[in-house]
Amino acid sequence: MRNWSGKGMLGVILVFVSTVSGCQRGVFSFGDSLTDTGNLYFISPRQSPDCLLPPYGRTHFHHPSGRCSDGRLIVDFLAHSLGLPYLKPYLAFKNAALPLPDLHHGLNFAVAGATALDTAFFQERGFTVDVTTNFSLRVQLDWFKEFLPSLCNSSSSCKKVIGSSLFIVGEIGGNDYGYPLSGTTAFEDLVTYIPQVISVITSAIRELIHLGAVTLMVPGSLPLGCNPAYLTTFATMDENQYDQAGCLKWLNTFYEYHNQLLQIELNRLRVLYPLTNIIYADYFNCALQFYYAPEQFGFGGNVLKVCCGGGGPYNYNETAKCGDAGVVACDDPSKYVSWDGYHLTEAAYRWMTKGLLDGPYTIPKFNISCFTGETIGDFNSYAME
Ligand SMILES: *[C@@H]1O[C@H](CO)[C@@H](O)[C@H](O)[C@H]1NC(C)=O
Ligand SMILES: *[C@@H]1O[C@H](CO)[C@@H](O)[C@H](O)[C@H]1NC(C)=O
Ligand SMILES: *[C@@H]1O[C@H](CO)[C@@H](O)[C@H](O)[C@H]1NC(C)=O
Ligand SMILES: *[C@@H]1O[C@H](CO)[C@@H](O)[C@H](O)[C@H]1NC(C)=O
Repeated sequence: MRNWSGKGMLGVILVFVSTVSGCQRGVFSFGDSLTDTGNLYFISPRQSPDCLLPPYGRTHFHHPSGRCSDGRLIVDFLAHSLGLPYLKPYLAFKNAALPLPDLHHGLNFAVAGATALDTAFFQERGFTVDVTTNFSLRVQLDWFKEFLPSLCNSSSSCKKVIGSSLFIVGEIGGNDYGYPLSGTTAFEDLVTYIPQVISVITSAIRELIHLGAVTLMVPGSLPLGCNPAYLTTFATMDENQYDQAGCLKWLNTFYEYHNQLLQIELNRLRVLYPLTNIIYADYFNCALQFYYAPEQFGFGGNVLKVCCGGGGPYNYNETAKCGDAGVVACDDPSKYVSWDGYHLTEAAYRWMTKGLLDGPYTIPKFNISCFTGETIGDFNSYAME
């Protein structure tokens, strides 16, 4: 199954001769609903919450766009900052449903609901697996390899185009932990999943490097202990379980542990592949600012509340989710971090992108000279678009 594992040494040699550098001319991304820009349209049955129903897309596209937000995602803002068009979903290309003029600009392989580990992993452990999530990182990588001949035909042309693209691997893993979290898994057992998830992510990175990738951005997990859906599910009277912002400490500790292990593995990869640029995107601390200093971002008062939700202390209701009949969105999503309980608002994603590009939240820092210098817009007026 892990058929690339024997290629380690060969990969190192290939990478040493790959000296492509300079600015990114395309973006290829893998992941889940934090990154999916429309692959969701092409899979069935529909998911819950159903990101293909209004009011998804309300703020920016003014209709559901296949993104699980009211507007654009981090990957959209990054592509824009690189002077590239928004990333098209691979399945639109595969199904010939959309004209795709220039594949060199990149393509998005992320699918909402996707896990890092294969679906079989969860089935073997007795979890009820949502069939719509059968688009693991392995499956997405296989798509990329199937797609490659449409991008380039010779080993030198592939090296060139792959080497000058940015590969975004993740965020992925959030849904993997969702399965054990939905059951009665003890914290000690939950932790045992982390190395397995990380191992799949690092294998994917190695495989992409063997294919010629030079610049890779690998996001860690968000602080999902501040996620209104989880805050609702794991609500407790024990105040000691909450931090000063009202987030669940044990959950954030868990995701921080995932991020620590991920960074340890990224450091190993940097040693193995010294000519690559492996950038860790610290989604956790970047988003944590929202909860600790909400006023700075215009989120005061609503920071743990859902914009599009069906009631309850966090305005998240398991039986009345965003997109369901009768569930209305807040008037101004730019005042909220959480769009639907699981996914962030365009405003939060925009602030996060700013944190990644300008702030200290990428390790090492992005080479800004490669960016177009275009700002990602006026932070206060976009809600009027
Ligand atoms: C940043 O990218 C520019 C353009 O490719 C290059 O000239 C410069 O050396 C890079 N800087 C760093 C620190 O890598
Ligand atoms: C998931 O996909 C794999 C290969 O793409 C397939 O073999 C498997 O049957 C699928 N599993 C489910 C539950 O649909
Ligand atoms: C590669 O070759 C195939 C088959 O000849 C062709 O269909 C495809 O368009 C070519 N791809 C590129 C990027 O030239
Ligand atoms: C959640 O939604 C259900 C179904 O619409 C509704 O009956 C219930 O009152 C809601 N719960 C809260 C706390 O608003």
